[in-house]
Amino acid sequence: MYQSDLLAGRTFLVTGGGTGLGRAMAMRYAELGATIAICGRRTAPLEATCADIAAAGGKAHWVSTDVRDMEAVEAAIVELEAKTGPIDGLVNNAAGNFLCASEDLSPGAFDSVVKIVLYGTFNCTQALGKRWIERDTQGAVINIVTTYAWMGSAFVLPSAAAKAGVLAMTRSLAVEWATYGIRLNAIAPGPIPTEGAFSRLMAGGMEKEALARIPAGRFGRPDELADLAVYLMSPAAQWVTGEVVTLDGAEWLKSGQEFSGFTSHPRANVKAVLNSMRPKKK
Ligand code: COA
Repeated sequence: MYQSDLLAGRTFLVTGGGTGLGRAMAMRYAELGATIAICGRRTAPLEATCADIAAAGGKAHWVSTDVRDMEAVEAAIVELEAKTGPIDGLVNNAAGNFLCASEDLSPGAFDSVVKIVLYGTFNCTQALGKRWIERDTQGAVINIVTTYAWMGSAFVLPSAAAKAGVLAMTRSLAVEWATYGIRLNAIAPGPIPTEGAFSRLMAGGMEKEALARIPAGRFGRPDELADLAVYLMSPAAQWVTGEVVTLDGAEWLKSGQEFSGFTSHPRANVKAVLNSMRPKKK
């Protein structure tokens, strides 16, 4: 679908790039010629992803860091750029989430998710953004949000609040930093099966119900997210900034619309009911 050297000469940092969707994006970027930097808290998946990229002929380096900590992020970028050269794209993918009734959240629980998602995104974006401004080079940021960033969602309050903040950050900085040639976009994925997300968010047979909410009739795939993330980093998207692209098989439109529940029934039955409501021809 893309030219095999589309991203040659580019260098991207993917936070949380050792596992799940971060890993899928890092692998795809590397396949198309980009040099990859990844960070995360656990070293084993980071090492494994870099080894897999190298085995496929790509270039990748990792550093273990916690995006919640601004000083650690600064040090990580210095260490990574010493190996990769200047980074010109950032994917804020690192996230934290779990299902919990909001009245049961401890201060530490709220803090943990908001610090990873909202502060982590700010820390990485500012650390690279100020370098791009100083170096007078263009840069691009992709923030991975979620379709409940604008609707909110029960039982994931810290994540919903933090992702809404990330979306506001995306749009605010798209305007503020456009003058420097820095673009910021967001991708809002619906459910895409990965170990990290599904082990935390799909407990107790919730998968079937989640699937039923998706008009397209299936979950998303990591490669679909990765290909969209390629487009947003590519020269084809030079004038795309401040945008959020939803990738969810129409899930949120269905759950947010008044009569969308009809799509859960066989279409022929729905049409029969609707037809029975039509006034009879005279
Ligand atoms: N329900 C309620 N509270 C929870 C929880 C759960 N399932 N899991 C953790 N917490 C609380 C802890 O009790 C703690 O609060 P306290 O100190 O007030 O008791 C706080 O959250 C932090 O927990 P800790 O174990 O120290 O986690 P951490 O800060 O090292 O990790 C998490 C952050 C909790 C978000 C963890 O789930 C994580 O590492 N997630 C990363 C991957 C991920 O979530 N991916 C999601 C993709 S959708």
